[in-house]
Amino acid sequence: MTGLRGRHFLTLQDFSADELWEMLRLSRDLKDKLRRGVPHELLPGKILALMFQKPSTRTRVSFEVAMRHLGGSSLYLEWGQLQLGRGEPVSDTAKVLSRYVDGVAARVYGHEILEEMARHATIPVINALSDFLHPCQGLADLFTVWERWGRLEGLKVAYVGDGNNVCHSLMIGCSKLGVDISVASPEGYKPDKRVVDWARENAKESGSKVEILTDPVEAVKDANVIYTDVFVSMGMEREREERLRVFLPKYQVTLDLFRYAAEDAVFMHCLPAHRGEEVAPEVIDGERSIVFDQAENRLHTEKALLALLL
Ligand code: CP
Ligand code: NVA
Repeated sequence: MTGLRGRHFLTLQDFSADELWEMLRLSRDLKDKLRRGVPHELLPGKILALMFQKPSTRTRVSFEVAMRHLGGSSLYLEWGQLQLGRGEPVSDTAKVLSRYVDGVAARVYGHEILEEMARHATIPVINALSDFLHPCQGLADLFTVWERWGRLEGLKVAYVGDGNNVCHSLMIGCSKLGVDISVASPEGYKPDKRVVDWARENAKESGSKVEILTDPVEAVKDANVIYTDVFVSMGMEREREERLRVFLPKYQVTLDLFRYAAEDAVFMHCLPAHRGEEVAPEVIDGERSIVFDQAENRLHTEKALLALLL
C-alpha cells in the first residue's frame, strides 16, 4: 500500500486495474471485519465534508456511517446554505474547506464543478455523483459482482436503458477489470462518446468486450447481470414525458428479458428505482434481484475508498 493516498476520486478512469483491485480487496476485508465485530478505526479523528446539490439516501448515509465506523466523523453541508449559493467561487470554497477537513465528497449537476474543486483543493475530492459519472456506485457494483461470482474476468454485464452517469461508471469499471459490457439504449440516449472511447481503450488492455446496441434482447444475451437505472435522472424532470415515451415499453427490464440472459443471471439497480418504468416489480422484488446487497455494498466500498484516499 499504496499510491492512493491524497488522490481525488472523480472517475474510475483515473485508476489502474491494480488500484481498483486494491479498493475491492480492502472492501472485502472491511465488510468481513464489520460482520465479525472487529474494530477497524483506520481514520481516527479525520473529518469528511459532504456537499450535495441534489438529494440522496444511499450516498449520504453510507458516507456518514462509513466515517463513523472508521473512527472519524462527517459534516453534511447543504449546498444552498453555503456561501457558494450566494456566488462564492467553487475555487475559494475548495481552498477554505481544505484548511478545515480531510476530504470532501460532493454531489453536483455539472461534472466541471468537481473538476474545479479538485484543481483547488489540497484534500481528496470524491465524486458523490455528477450528471456525467457516478464512480462510487461503479465501485460498489464491481464489488457486488465479484462477491457474487468470486471473479470478474469472463463475466458479462448488460445495461439496459438510459446511457447516463451510472451507465458511464459501470462501463468504465467493467472495461478496466475484464468484464464484458453490453449497453442497449435508444437513439439519442446512448452513452457519451468520450466514455465509449475510454471503455474501448480499457477493454483492449483487459481483454473484455464493449458493445453499444439498441436492442435489449441482443444486449442481454448470455449476460450474468442485467442492470438498469431510472429513465429520468435528477435534474431531467422536465423531460419526463418524452423520455417515458421513448423508453417504454421496450427498455423495461422484465422477467421475459431474463429468458435471453445466462441461467444464473441477476438483476442490479443503483436505486432509487421506479417500479413499472425501468423495471417490472416482479424483477426487482423477485429472487434474481440483488439490489439490496448492492446498496449495502456502497458502505463497504466507500469505507475502503476513504481509508485509502484519506
Ligand atoms: N444509488 C445512489 O447513489 O443513491 P442515492 O441517490 O440515494 O445516494
Ligand atoms: N441516474 C440517476 C442515479 C441516481 C443514483 C440520477 O442521476 O438521478
